Amino acid sequence: MMGFLSKLFGTQTKEENNMTNEKLNIGIILGSTRQGRVSPQVGEWVKGIADKRGDANYEIVDIADFNLPFLGTTDGSEPGIADWNGKLANLDGFVFIVQEYNHSITGALKNALDFAREAWNNKAAGIVSYGSTGGARAAEHLRGICGELMIADVRVHPTLSLFTDFENGTDFKPQDLHLNNVNAMLDQVIAWSGALKTLR
Ligand SMILES: Cc1cc2nc3c(=O)[nH]c(=O)nc-3n(C[C@H](O)[C@H](O)[C@H](O)COP(=O)(O)O)c2cc1C
Repeated sequence: MMGFLSKLFGTQTKEENNMTNEKLNIGIILGSTRQGRVSPQVGEWVKGIADKRGDANYEIVDIADFNLPFLGTTDGSEPGIADWNGKLANLDGFVFIVQEYNHSITGALKNALDFAREAWNNKAAGIVSYGSTGGARAAEHLRGICGELMIADVRVHPTLSLFTDFENGTDFKPQDLHLNNVNAMLDQVIAWSGALKTLR
């Protein structure tokens, strides 16, 4: 009753806001910006699985759309920098689509991670990676970065093989076995994103 009245009169506390039934906003972040990249195929596949759940608002967030400069090489006035921070601020959690470049994440993803701080903090993230060994080495590097940015990265981690989940390394044809893993990863992202929202 109190919650209803405070909502009616616009005096809702932060805690009450967090307990309402608003859906979480989860960004599926494409980690590569290279011409000819396969990450949009992987991101759309994850989004297709996620949308069927109906438990959150899922959206693709493409780093390439923000035209971020290389950190520190400009005066920081490019609108894409503010837009990037604004987009992240509106998200409650993330799924990183991670590709392995020289045993780590792409320079583009690292640059984009470095371009925000508070907008990452106290949120959860899942990782879907790909590469010759499932992108595992890149994903483990990303976990270290998540610690510094106070992003809680969940345990379940779908790993896609360039050899068995792609044809010719370019046409994404995921094996069925990944479906359960993606859903288990999303279960954890949703649970932790909701829990961490109460801290912000
Ligand atoms: C510069 C560069 C370095 C790469 N290094 C690795 C690597 O260390 N390990 C690996 O498994 N794949 C590596 N690859 C292969 C990529 O994982 C593969 O091309 C993948 O499709 C890249 O993702 P994208 O198409 O979304 O950009 C590399 C590719 C590039 C362009």
